[in-house]
Amino acid sequence: MTPKKTKILIADDDTNILTGLKTVLIQYDYSVRTARDGREAINKLQKTEFPVLLTDLEMPHAGGLDILEFIRSAEMSTQVIFITGKGTIATAVDAMKKGAYDYLTKPVSAERLISIIPKAVEHYELLVNYQNLEQRIKSLTHFEDLVGQSKQMLYIYKMIETVAESTATVIITGESGTGKELVAKAIHRRSPRGERPFIAVNCSAFPEDILENELFGHEKGAFTGAIDEKPGCFELADTGTLFLDEIGEMSLQTQAKILRALEEKRYRRLGGKKEIQVDVRVLAATNRNLKKAIEQKTFREDLYFRLCVVEIDIPPLRDRIEDIHLLIDEFLHQFNQLNGKNISGLTSRCREILLRYGWPGNVRELRNTIERAVIMCKKDQIDIYDLPDRILTYDREQPLLTMELGKTLEEAEKKYVLQTLQMVDQNKSKAAQILGISVKGLYNKLEEYGE
Ligand SMILES: Nc1ncnc2c1ncn2[C@@H]1O[C@H](COP(=O)(O)OP(=O)(O)OP(=O)(O)O)[C@@H](O)[C@H]1O
Ligand SMILES: [Mg+2]
Repeated sequence: MTPKKTKILIADDDTNILTGLKTVLIQYDYSVRTARDGREAINKLQKTEFPVLLTDLEMPHAGGLDILEFIRSAEMSTQVIFITGKGTIATAVDAMKKGAYDYLTKPVSAERLISIIPKAVEHYELLVNYQNLEQRIKSLTHFEDLVGQSKQMLYIYKMIETVAESTATVIITGESGTGKELVAKAIHRRSPRGERPFIAVNCSAFPEDILENELFGHEKGAFTGAIDEKPGCFELADTGTLFLDEIGEMSLQTQAKILRALEEKRYRRLGGKKEIQVDVRVLAATNRNLKKAIEQKTFREDLYFRLCVVEIDIPPLRDRIEDIHLLIDEFLHQFNQLNGKNISGLTSRCREILLRYGWPGNVRELRNTIERAVIMCKKDQIDIYDLPDRILTYDREQPLLTMELGKTLEEAEKKYVLQTLQMVDQNKSKAAQILGISVKGLYNKLEEYGE
């Protein structure tokens, strides 16, 4: 089957021009329609999608500029090329500012016509593809294994599509359970390496020497117990993607080794002499504030910049409440199937409680909650009795104190005491009561803090 011919519409009140242009274009395998005035052209544009319109400026009923205006207001992607006499070039130039693609002067040169049309068609196709992508992402509720339709998630889907094309390293940040690993997998799958291996290493799960052994592998006899050689994750991920999870937990020594491997794209196994060359795309994730860690000198700044070509930050679930509905339905479906149940939904008061809850464990906590509820539920609908106490007694109004880990107990205590005072408008006896100490004890503490 021959590919579908590109449709071109020509509008002109001069029949000689119509037939002349049509003859040339047909020879080049375009499918050509004609219109003798502006109104007829608009009629045809409404019925059929034309990638390109060639139009005269002045015609009966409606001129070329009116047609251009119609195309823009109807949000069509048709590219408009004006055919203009010597006297109207200024108008044609003006029309280009209004969004026309180009113009041709009479008498039209066949050579120029034939060179300009494919470019206009290409422009049209780019525009349509872009609009399709926009449209598709706008109507998405799922993207790979990710579920969510909030503005923030749609933005993340777009970021994934964009970075998937390149080999740039990406750092994925977000609280625990927000879906960092799912985002990493989605980037991999959408990338040209999608069919190649995806190797994930949890950098917080091993002590330093074992982690290095995991990452770089070892040669036979590298250390006692190294009976065989073992390839590391960098090798296993060759031509694919290596996902370094929880990178904030790595020792400075391992960070230095990773940095070297990334910069030189080669490294040695433990106890090895031979340099191993790999082609690996690296994605990394952390739920720690790395900038803080850099300040505290527990994370190398150079490695941070090497990894963080692009950052994707996943907001916590409590900041995208509209996703909770979709996620509940998705997990309900999954756990119904897994447990051979047929629970139809949640009571409205139950849904309300789930929407109000703060989800400190994010999507993972929601998933576990629905799993538990599906197992507990003895009726057709999940009700509040199927929810754990911590969710039922949660009070969103109660102010929260968030604190980065990595502080001393003393610093944590100071922050807690001062914020409690703030909550009760500096009323010392109320604060002391909440803190479970005497008022004198509170004064002593404040003095210690220099407050
Ligand atoms: N948007 C989402 N749609 C569907 N499931 C999700 C979504 N986000 C997270 N999940 C599910 O929640 C759980 C946690 O996700 P994941 O392991 O990717 O989170 P994480 O950010 O890597 O967490 P951690 O920081 O604890 O490693 C998984 O079971 C995952 O399938
Ligand atoms: Mg994770």
